[in-house]
Amino acid sequence: MSNEKTKAVLNQAVADLSQFAVVIHQAHWYMRGKGFLTMHPRMDDYMDEINDHLDVIAERLIIIGGSPYSTLKEFADNTKIADEIGTYSKTMEERIAVLLKGYRYLKDLCAEAIAVTDEENDHVTQDIFIGFKADVEKTIWMLEAELGNEPGL
Ligand SMILES: [Fe+2]
Repeated sequence: MSNEKTKAVLNQAVADLSQFAVVIHQAHWYMRGKGFLTMHPRMDDYMDEINDHLDVIAERLIIIGGSPYSTLKEFADNTKIADEIGTYSKTMEERIAVLLKGYRYLKDLCAEAIAVTDEENDHVTQDIFIGFKADVEKTIWMLEAELGNEPGL
C-alpha cells in the first residue's frame, strides 16, 4: 500500500512546526504589555512542545522511508504558516491572536493527517497526530481562556 500521502503530511508538519517555532520565538522576544511576566516564559514552554513534536514527526517520516525537510529554505518554501518582520507595536491580545491562528491551522493539519493515515493504514503515524492534536487543542483552550473566550474548537 502506498504511503505517499502520509509522508507528504508528515513533511508538511515538519515545515510548519519549524516555522511556527520561529513565530513563537518572535512573540517571546517582541511582546510588551500586561501579562509579559507570565507570557514571556510561557513562549519557552510552547517552543519546547513544538520542537518535541517536530522531532517525533520528522523521525517518524524517516522511519517510514521519507526524507524530512532540514534547511531553513525548505521550511520557508513549504510552510503554510505566515510570518512577518517583528514589531513591538502589537498588543498582547494581538500577539495571542497570531498564536491562535497558528495553533488552529495545526489542529486542521492534524485532522487531515488523521484522515490520510487512516486511508493509508498507518495507525502508528495516526497515533502521533492524535496526541499532537490533543496538545494543540489544550493550548487553544488556554489561549482563548486568556482572552476571555470559550475554546471554540
Ligand atoms: Fe528567552
